[in-house]
Amino acid sequence: MIRILALTVALSLGPAVAWAQDRAAEAAQIFASTCGFCHQDGGRAAGRGPKLAGTDRPDDYLLNRIRVGKEGAMPAFGRAFSEAQLRALVVYIRSLKDDAR
Ligand code: HEC
Repeated sequence: MIRILALTVALSLGPAVAWAQDRAAEAAQIFASTCGFCHQDGGRAAGRGPKLAGTDRPDDYLLNRIRVGKEGAMPAFGRAFSEAQLRALVVYIRSLKDDAR
């Protein structure tokens, strides 16, 4: 019984893990093509926009900035990407290693 249960859990988690990995890869790709122009080195260095690696801002703040942008500074991406993609971008930013610390 336990074995069947473990197998069921493994089979159902597999796709979820693959899905999460796909989201992460997609977020990295979106970042490179859409955000990297201003957030240099994949968000690890400042450019026209600030360095994002190691930011102290809460997730909600980051999500909101990406969603609505900032007039005269950063475009809004709330319509360009789905909710899942926007959240994956925040996860991507959180995953960046901050070498300067
Ligand atoms: C045209 C240049 C430009 C592009 C393109 C751009 N940004 Fe920005 N971004 C900025 C600037 C400038 C700021 C600082 C705005 C402010 O004062 O809050 C900023 C701020 C941010 C912040 C808040 C950082 C913090 O710690 O305050 C996040 C998160 C962010 N950008 C993510 C993204 C993502 C994700 C993308 C791509 C989907 C993106 N940006 C594309 C220029 C840009």
